[in-house]
Amino acid sequence: MGQSSVSSPDAEGRTSRLGGFYQLSLNERVATLAAWAALTPEECAWLAQGMGVERGDKMIENVVGRYDLPLGIGTNFTINGRDYLIPLVVEEPSVVAAVSFAARLARLGGGFRTGSSEPIMIAQVQLLGVADPELATAAILGAKQELLALANTSPTIARLGGGPVDVEVRWLPQTPTVPMLVVHLLFDVRDAMGANAVNTAAEAIAPRLEALSGGRALLRILSNYSDRRRAWAEVVIPAHAFSTAGFGGEAVIEGIAHANALAVADPYRAATHNKGIMNGIDAVALATGNDWRAIEAGAHAYAARQGRYAALTDWRVVREKMELLGSSAYRSDAVRLPDEADWPLLYGRLELPLAVGIVGGATRAHPVAQVALKILGVGSARELSEVMAAVGLAQNLAAIRALATDGIQRGHMALHARQMAIAAGAEGAAVDWVAERLVQEGQIRVERARELLAQDR
Ligand code: MEV
Repeated sequence: MGQSSVSSPDAEGRTSRLGGFYQLSLNERVATLAAWAALTPEECAWLAQGMGVERGDKMIENVVGRYDLPLGIGTNFTINGRDYLIPLVVEEPSVVAAVSFAARLARLGGGFRTGSSEPIMIAQVQLLGVADPELATAAILGAKQELLALANTSPTIARLGGGPVDVEVRWLPQTPTVPMLVVHLLFDVRDAMGANAVNTAAEAIAPRLEALSGGRALLRILSNYSDRRRAWAEVVIPAHAFSTAGFGGEAVIEGIAHANALAVADPYRAATHNKGIMNGIDAVALATGNDWRAIEAGAHAYAARQGRYAALTDWRVVREKMELLGSSAYRSDAVRLPDEADWPLLYGRLELPLAVGIVGGATRAHPVAQVALKILGVGSARELSEVMAAVGLAQNLAAIRALATDGIQRGHMALHARQMAIAAGAEGAAVDWVAERLVQEGQIRVERARELLAQDR
């Protein structure tokens, strides 16, 4: 893989490799984006004006105002051979720059490869007072077809080929109150996040479950541990992509593997490591009007699935093809790997539950979320979840690469200095030279930026 693959267009003739995008003015950035995603002038206007308080007043209760966050664009992403620009809503500096930087590195190995399971959500019905759990379980499983028919409560989802697919029963003999039976309804929600659909279905089957089990239904609600609805992303990147003046590429990728190892072995590090992953994933969730708390809950529950909280990622140094046998994307010959001269490689993988939708809820009601989905150009909720997995993996790579080399503060300081320069009134090229001076002097303050600008004038 030569340098040319870094900027070459995808099958649709577009490239997300927008070098210098950050140096454009806000208007120029919007114009570039409008050309990329064929945004109408009205859609561009939504980006600037946001949802507005009148719409917000219809969304939640007791509205008194609105609260804005910036929407930035993650560049350079290529996923399964297709280029994407990624809308990110986040208050933390560095996140957008970090994912874009990591996505640029990923292009050197052909970009991200992703996959996902069918969009299966789980609804739970809790049954108390079940005298004979074995008999109740047999009765419920024996009535599976009838229950699935009863649970088929969403004509919209049914029309799209989704609906309830299975029933499972779990007996919990030890709880802080009494033993209980829990019935899981598995529901293919297609392109919806699905919370409403599965909650309705759970309530619909509860009376029949009571009759079948002889118990009393209490909770009837989805599980945010949506472990049947997962997305994963993988990447390989040649070691030389990580070489800098101060660090050899191979040493850097070994450092990245050691950084990941700590997060696999230690929950204290795992929490921070996974938080970095969620920096990227939540930012896409917010931009597209998805429920980021649901995603967070699912991710952290999955991180603890083996009984101990651990990293959601796997990063390792790969020196032979055999070492990629455990990978979904790279074990076959279907995906071209970097040329032999470019090995060793860094291999990374992230897998997590991602219950996201592209229809209904805030994705539909929020005009900026609609624009964000148009920018992404995803055709299904599964595709959105895969893009989010790639963004999470990119964010994590950028963080642990920085941590395993210069440390995180250097990059943060440079960005912080840019913000101080802009706050002091710097424009165009002045932003860069003022920021550089602030970093050199170790004084990242807006007053100092003002002084530098005044001296220059
Ligand atoms: C900061 O928002 C995220 C990091 O702490 C993630 C990490 O440590 O991997 C930089």
